Amino acid sequence: MNCNSTLLLFGATGDLARRMLLPSLYALFSDGLIADDLRIFGTARSMLNDEEYRKIVHDALIEFLPEDRKEEGLIESFLDHIFYQPLDASTIEGFAELADKIGDISGGLSIFLSTAPFLFEPTIKGLQSAGLAEANVRIGLEKPLGNDLESSKIINDAVNRVFSEEQTFRIDHYLGKETVQNLMALRFANILFEPLWNAQAIEHVQITISETVGLEGRAGFYDGTGALRDMLQNHMLQLLALIAMEPPASLDAAAIRDEKVKVLRSLRPVSEDDIVIGQYGAGAVSETLVKSYTDDLGDESTTETYVALKTYVDNWRWQGVPFYLRTGKRLSERRSEIVIQFREVPHNIFKDRGSKLESNRLIIRLQPEEYVRLLVMSKEPGLDRGKTILREVPLDLSLTQAFAGARRRIAYERLLMDLIDGDQTLFVRRDEVEAQWKWVDNIRDTIQKSTIMPKIYNSGGWGPSTAIALTERDGATWHE
Ligand code: BG6
Repeated sequence: MNCNSTLLLFGATGDLARRMLLPSLYALFSDGLIADDLRIFGTARSMLNDEEYRKIVHDALIEFLPEDRKEEGLIESFLDHIFYQPLDASTIEGFAELADKIGDISGGLSIFLSTAPFLFEPTIKGLQSAGLAEANVRIGLEKPLGNDLESSKIINDAVNRVFSEEQTFRIDHYLGKETVQNLMALRFANILFEPLWNAQAIEHVQITISETVGLEGRAGFYDGTGALRDMLQNHMLQLLALIAMEPPASLDAAAIRDEKVKVLRSLRPVSEDDIVIGQYGAGAVSETLVKSYTDDLGDESTTETYVALKTYVDNWRWQGVPFYLRTGKRLSERRSEIVIQFREVPHNIFKDRGSKLESNRLIIRLQPEEYVRLLVMSKEPGLDRGKTILREVPLDLSLTQAFAGARRRIAYERLLMDLIDGDQTLFVRRDEVEAQWKWVDNIRDTIQKSTIMPKIYNSGGWGPSTAIALTERDGATWHE
């Protein structure tokens, strides 16, 4: 690996930088995980000097760091690494000054670009014109990278004209989550699961990302995006790919991404009957009254804040196994979870003893709690004559307890470190993104050509009731 000694953050005064990026960089710095000589340059439109920007960074750290991580002395030394240069990225002029300010990049430069889609192209051109796109420069790209296949191709073409794929790091912050990486450990570091990880033993798979939050002041972005593009196209599909992929030959970035893209390309187009979209109405989330989406927005809208659907991975391993996916805002609780529902045993020897068997179920809870729970049938203790009572009991692995001493890092700590170190394993390759868009565009097309409209659901529930029918008609039940 080849660590870069300079980092350049676009959108340096924005919400993502203040909430996530700067606290993550500080956490890496305070744990000695980034080089002592790393220089961090922020850039945005605001006319600030270094000192004024350091004050913004300081305030962001005080606001967003956990109490036990705030150490004034360390924060002060961290601020010594921070510099700022104002820039209007829509014109090429300011880039030369930016390059002057950054100075020597012979130690390599990592760029983190989170910007409005229309600024991608001018920014890339500006970087190139100022000599900030040489072979020792890496670029991390935060979503939204377009809003359909075509616009994503335009952005990716603009990027790839200047940066090779090896220099391009497309971010999906779910891949930076520890528990998401643990999916691979669970599947490929244990002999137990893999022989059963297929259509012979698995009846269906559920993936849920439910959120309690609503619009959160992001009306401008969200209303033009919706749940399909905001969550399904990226985070949900990456989870699906990790669950469904073949074992890669190694942990190497290419090996893993090769396997993921095969899954993404095998996704069956979703039929009209298998899609439910919804929009939150008023209701109560965690006993707090909340407004409807249109009231939050202050306008009429048909944007979906919820989607549930059924799809299939059309390959040998998964033939005939439904994958039920759902995600939504203002739902009952915050939860990211994967449920693997196994099939029934072929023959129930307990039937004549009055016992009904539940099929095994593996629940992988990614957040907020972190656990793996296997539901297994077990005999209730007792001297019952003629009758055997069996009950489903959980075999619980709490990762929170098993790794109680380990610091939980937020996704961006991992991703920023990998960007600086040049490790692409947890970043999304262009062919993956394009396969994801192709599948999602097809769903949007199906919706547009149909009579499907978002169903209004009460905030604080589990979404529109039609989503229940989506699974129940196959004899399956959402795990709630
Ligand atoms: C983002 C979406 O990518 O992921 C947000 O734009 C969503 O709408 C967020 O709230 C969820 O991320 P997390 O890490 O809180 O599950």
